[in-house]
Amino acid sequence: MNEFDPIVGSAREAFARAATPADLENAKAQFVGKSGRITELMKGLAALSVEEKKARGAAINVAKQAIEAALTERRQQLADAELEAQLKAEALDVSLPGRAREPGGLHPVSLTMERIERIFASMGFDVADGPEIESDWHSFTSLNNPPNHPARSMQDTFYVDIQGDDGIPYNLRPHTSPMQVRYAHQHIKKYADAVKAGGTMPEIRVIAPGRTYRVDSDATHSPMFHQCEGLWLGENVSFKDLKVVFTDFCRTFFESDDLALRFRPSFFPFTEPSAEIDIQFQHGPLAGRWLEVAGSGQVHPEVVRNMGLDPERFIGFAFGMGPDRLTMLRYGVNDLRLFFDGDVRFLKQFR
Ligand code: DAH
Repeated sequence: MNEFDPIVGSAREAFARAATPADLENAKAQFVGKSGRITELMKGLAALSVEEKKARGAAINVAKQAIEAALTERRQQLADAELEAQLKAEALDVSLPGRAREPGGLHPVSLTMERIERIFASMGFDVADGPEIESDWHSFTSLNNPPNHPARSMQDTFYVDIQGDDGIPYNLRPHTSPMQVRYAHQHIKKYADAVKAGGTMPEIRVIAPGRTYRVDSDATHSPMFHQCEGLWLGENVSFKDLKVVFTDFCRTFFESDDLALRFRPSFFPFTEPSAEIDIQFQHGPLAGRWLEVAGSGQVHPEVVRNMGLDPERFIGFAFGMGPDRLTMLRYGVNDLRLFFDGDVRFLKQFR
């Protein structure tokens, strides 16, 4: 039994209470630090006789060694605990299933648009892009629509809160047809130069795909939909050329040589004569049924004049088709709205 055992005991307790290495170093200072209890006892030896120093010094040393041993042991315990906590925190459960990243894909209508562009490009058509917010003149007047035409009404066309120079609000273009006039204007210098030079007249051969808007919504109509305008003007481009080009396009698009196509007489202010083009569903729930996919016709001389061109020299056809409907036909989809709901379960089938 050492008279300093109680000090050793309280050191052990203090070390055990220390929960962190910093706590432990503070506890250590109370016993073997500069003014710790053991250190003070050592200092007290100076006043004693040689005999007493020897006996008491030895006992103090035993106590000191015991405290240092307890300190080392506790340090190791805390270090072990810290390492274990760290290992636990950084643990990897290699048996968990991974978080899969599914590959994305193009929207079915985008696939159709790309297909349309590729096919018409192979027939020498340029691809043009234009604004979705249009002036009244471009959407209607330039296309020979009379002032009171129903397409101009609020029931059919969306208008925006911006007025054009003519005092009439801009519209969300209800068709891509304004691109006929825009494209001709963009390239007008080329045609004017050709007229001056007196050589052969360059042709206009272009498609203009894009978004269009109408106040309309059911299984085959959506307020936002897509159109692709086509225009081919030259010295002598006929309705027969329209039939050949459009039929050829459809057969390539649907990869079918015996596709059924129907040109139905119709009316548009910007064409004369005019026809609506129907295609028959080949498969899917609507097999056998006809779906209108385009309006078309020989471009009206008034429209050619609004392009800034001579209607005696620029003769040809135009069409405006619905890529959304081509997509329905190609994949046998029976509701147009499915394309715009954004449901991944539907869309991923086209990946
Ligand atoms: N713009 C017409 C529509 O949206 C479609 C159309 C008909 C376009 C005849 C044309 C055309 O270029 O010649 O209903």
